[in-house]
Amino acid sequence: MTEPTRNPEPNPIDPAVEAALASSRAARAEALLEFARIPSVSTQPEHASDMVAAAEWAAARLRGVGATEVEVIRTDLHPIVYGKIHEAPGAPTVVVYCHYDVQPVDPIDLWETAPFVPFLRDRRFVGRGVADDKGQLVMHLAALEAMRAAGRSPAVNLTFVFEGEEEFGSESLFHWIPQNRDRLAADVVVISDTGYFEGNVPAITVALRGIMYAQIDVELSPVDLHSGMYGGSVENPAIALARIVAALKGPDGRVRIPGFYDDVVPLTDADRAEMAALPFDEEAFRVATGVPALVGEAGWTILESRTARPTLDVNGIWGGFQGDGAKTIIPAHAHAKVSTRLVADQSPQKVFGALRDYVSQVAPPGVKVTTTYIHGGEGSLTPTDHPATQAAARAIRAVEGVDPVYIREGGSIPVTAAFDHVLGLPVVLVGFTQPNDNAHAPNEWFDERNFEAGTRVIVRLWDELAALPRGTEG
Ligand code: BES
Ligand code: ZN
Repeated sequence: MTEPTRNPEPNPIDPAVEAALASSRAARAEALLEFARIPSVSTQPEHASDMVAAAEWAAARLRGVGATEVEVIRTDLHPIVYGKIHEAPGAPTVVVYCHYDVQPVDPIDLWETAPFVPFLRDRRFVGRGVADDKGQLVMHLAALEAMRAAGRSPAVNLTFVFEGEEEFGSESLFHWIPQNRDRLAADVVVISDTGYFEGNVPAITVALRGIMYAQIDVELSPVDLHSGMYGGSVENPAIALARIVAALKGPDGRVRIPGFYDDVVPLTDADRAEMAALPFDEEAFRVATGVPALVGEAGWTILESRTARPTLDVNGIWGGFQGDGAKTIIPAHAHAKVSTRLVADQSPQKVFGALRDYVSQVAPPGVKVTTTYIHGGEGSLTPTDHPATQAAARAIRAVEGVDPVYIREGGSIPVTAAFDHVLGLPVVLVGFTQPNDNAHAPNEWFDERNFEAGTRVIVRLWDELAALPRGTEG
């Protein structure tokens, strides 16, 4: 893989804003470190007050850059932060979305430093959330601070929506969006929660996968049974669960649930050619991942299998005796967390129904099996030639000196489809992290060079979007 020659524009952003950015580098880094010190782990109830603290932190910063109507909106769970800078009459309005929640830190013993004592060393930020997604949220705030220092307003109207439930399905925001159409009236949505391609190649994400997350519970009896007294006369729930799980996916990587592939948008030859042209080195990816071999879906490349095709995984499986030594029991119950990654047009609810029916069909007799929906979100697909996508491409080109590649990502940002389907807004996914940044894993990091360049891309993006033809979002 050869790095493309980079040739940025001499003055990609207003020199006064550049001067403000140059003199605020330490302060902007400190802002990220301060934010990342708040342990806003959205899935752990003991962090509920940290969630409020993180939301308040972001709201205070928004007020600091002159945003109006700034509000920390209480929900059934974690607050939504809202605010706007509408100072460009007649110009397009952009909803800016980021999330302030982070993933849990376990396994904690694999962290080389404490996850919530973030630091910047050798141009790398390290700590939980520095990349996913606090770094990117801070970049948006920092871009505005620099513009203010230079006495400028953004050339578009900006409406900010920061949420705290992204890492487990965005339920509160799903309720809030349809009830707040007025507050969200806009021309386009910009989401910064993705990143560059392998090798730190600037990228715009044009597709995300959706998700359907469920739990399978297999119950035999109220308590564990003596395996000598009962073995041979009852079904073993762990074996029953293993049979069910084994039936879900074949060795060819195909999901066996009837109807699973029904609504999958086919990849065209052109889509496949575009993906094949990306600088993706399978062997380098395998080595970096640390696995003995890559296993994709039969008939599809690894890159296609992990970004553009739907799939199914077991996220956790448990039941019975797990201690040292031996214990002769038939476990009372066994459980599995199962999730599917979906592509555009697959419905999480429909896929859940198909999973539930199939599980009851393949479940052996003698145990009680239930399948429960946990959360879901649809995938998304944005046309590469959309004017907003092209505006983002010009901003990247100006600052980074190369055209971005257009990529599909295997991960999910559940609310993307809601902006698209509920509000009818085009979504541009512009993010700046590197693909091997250990998001969700120990020792998460974010390269300060990406932080710096990305902040300038954001500044330029508002200028590029100002020229967006209005009312032609489609
Ligand atoms: N930032 C990620 C989404 C992402 C992952 C984008 C990989 C690009 C590449 C986001 O914070 C995330 O992890 N989302 C969850 C959502 C889920 C829990 C509903 C995910 O994909 O697992
Ligand atoms: Zn994220």
